[in-house]
Amino acid sequence: MIIKESGDIDMEFILYEVKGAVGTITINREKALNALNSKVLDELSVTLDAVDLENTRCLILTGAGEKSFVAGADIGEMSTLTKAEGEAFGKKGNDVFRKLENFPIPVIAAVNGFALGGGCEIAMSCDIRICSENAVFGQPEVGLGITPGFGGTQRLARLVSPGMAKQMIYTARNIKADEAYRIGLVNAVYPQEELIPAAEKMAAGIAKNAPIAVRNCKKAINDGLQVDIDQAIVIEEKLFGDCFETEDQRYGMAFFLDKNKEKVKEPFKNC
Ligand code: CAA
Repeated sequence: MIIKESGDIDMEFILYEVKGAVGTITINREKALNALNSKVLDELSVTLDAVDLENTRCLILTGAGEKSFVAGADIGEMSTLTKAEGEAFGKKGNDVFRKLENFPIPVIAAVNGFALGGGCEIAMSCDIRICSENAVFGQPEVGLGITPGFGGTQRLARLVSPGMAKQMIYTARNIKADEAYRIGLVNAVYPQEELIPAAEKMAAGIAKNAPIAVRNCKKAINDGLQVDIDQAIVIEEKLFGDCFETEDQRYGMAFFLDKNKEKVKEPFKNC
């Protein structure tokens, strides 16, 4: 399925394709290396709202072409903004990225090239990052006279060490895929042609598991990271308890306990 339009927004820059239980969002503005202007951000937001959460269990986010994932926020659009407009543009990006970060199902960023500024930031809003060998990460904003504005000062410091985040942000130096892997910014690096198959394989591995449990894991990790450990443990207890009495929990445990070695595991239902 490809969403061409939704509501009032004509989808010019986002492709959305579903294969089984996995949806792939492609930022499709190749001429500008998939840079994020307001329209791309609006379309991304509408696309997320349109995802069929009854049947979709994992998303992949990538960029069109073989050169760039996302080369940042659109510098042309930002170049004439006032202070108030700059703040509003930051909020627009942050609102969409929070929607992605809090999306009920996992999102894998398949970083297929440049992930600079807003590109690194959108990847960091995803649950998991994997990249191709030609990927380049960085927060070049201070070289443009601005701070990172779509969450980079916050998420980079949380994902890698604060010292490494500060080094990357203050120096505006880009890093290659191997260094991104070394500092824990990405989980794995693949040859370009293997990246999407690897993302699809990982997504299928997620999609085959009990969907309520996977969603609750995402919520437990995300919400727990925002509070102290005592509160975090309570968050986990509630989400753990929430899984019980579901068809998936009953079936998953009954399947394990059943000693019939011939049995074949049925797909989990969303219930
Ligand atoms: N905004 C707007 N247009 C961009 C863009 C961006 N962030 N990045 C690339 N483009 C456009 C270029 O202007 C160029 O357009 P034209 O063909 O019309 O001239 C086209 O994409 C191809 O780019 P290049 O010719 O520059 O390609 P290259 O291979 O020589 O260089 C690059 C690639 C190193 C990624 C270089 O394009 C670049 O440095 N881009 C900007 C990266 C950047 O600074 N990103 C951070 C933006 S600020 C931000 O994101 C703020 C925030 O936190 C919200």
